[in-house]
Amino acid sequence: MRQQDFIHRPQKLPFVSNTSGLDYELLDCGNQRKLERFGTVVLNRPEISAKYKPRLNKDIWESADWYFFEKKGKKGEWKANGTPKNEWNIKYQKENLKLSFQLELTAFKHVGLFPEQAENWQYIQHKLKTIEGKKRVLNLFAYTSAASIVSAACGAEVTNVESVKQIINWGRKNAEINKLEGIRWILEDARKFVKKAVRREDVFEGIILDPPTFGYGSNKERWKIESDLEPLLHDLFKLLNQQDGFLILNTYSPKMPQAKLLTILNQLKHPKLKSREIVNLGLSNPSSQKLTLGLLFRF
Ligand SMILES: C[S@@+](CC[C@H](N)C(=O)[O-])C[C@H]1O[C@@H](n2cnc3c(N)ncnc32)[C@H](O)[C@@H]1O
Repeated sequence: MRQQDFIHRPQKLPFVSNTSGLDYELLDCGNQRKLERFGTVVLNRPEISAKYKPRLNKDIWESADWYFFEKKGKKGEWKANGTPKNEWNIKYQKENLKLSFQLELTAFKHVGLFPEQAENWQYIQHKLKTIEGKKRVLNLFAYTSAASIVSAACGAEVTNVESVKQIINWGRKNAEINKLEGIRWILEDARKFVKKAVRREDVFEGIILDPPTFGYGSNKERWKIESDLEPLLHDLFKLLNQQDGFLILNTYSPKMPQAKLLTILNQLKHPKLKSREIVNLGLSNPSSQKLTLGLLFRF
């Protein structure tokens, strides 16, 4: 495929799923739910894109340790089967990295890790290995900081930006578990941080961002992907090292369809853009059921 082809018009993108190294399995999916093993704990939770017929029988689904009931809005409740842990750790071991992340049940059905991101952690490892000299990584919309932890464990100087205090504290806990010091923890609206960094003429060798459809900065600044991603990307390209820069952008939003994302990306300029890729990122299981969980653009 020629570069121009995917950058100019939408098309069927390759599907990528790679959780290798993470103690995680997508056991089954179907009826808009997924059955997953995160380390020692099995979860049964909603997944809108799981439009399959389940492969495993009902008894197996019902034996999950935790079942998430959706209530009105996005919140819900977890129901235990027996007395499973509601806080536990999961291991990630890849090449010479041995990491652990803390998981816990949240009212939004998440547990503190998006396993499909393991594909990006591997990418970060490879990219950081090839960079000689300074390795400064900026992780925006960092959530519980998994990508920051991986980057720091690979020797990068990491700046972690997230707008929710409790979530930053969860990230700090993950750094502590892995005995990683020196991550810069920034509780701020991602755009505000980036504007200041542009004024300071900061430079980063790696930029990672996984913006939500809708969110708030630390001072309730409203974030909307459909209007805010484009100016943010223009600013971020000013911060990216011209020689060794790498960028990882994930979007999982009906407000940012492929065509719109491609139009935005097409305006950006960087020498390394020649090696860009855009794929559907997701999860798959042994019977090749595929869950597409967003677009991934990186170079
Ligand atoms: C989709 S999650 C990122 C997941 C992360 N990539 C991972 O794999 O762990 C989006 C995060 O962005 C944060 N957020 C939302 N609006 C923000 C803003 N304006 N500035 C900074 N962070 C924001 C949310 O609190 C949330 O933790």
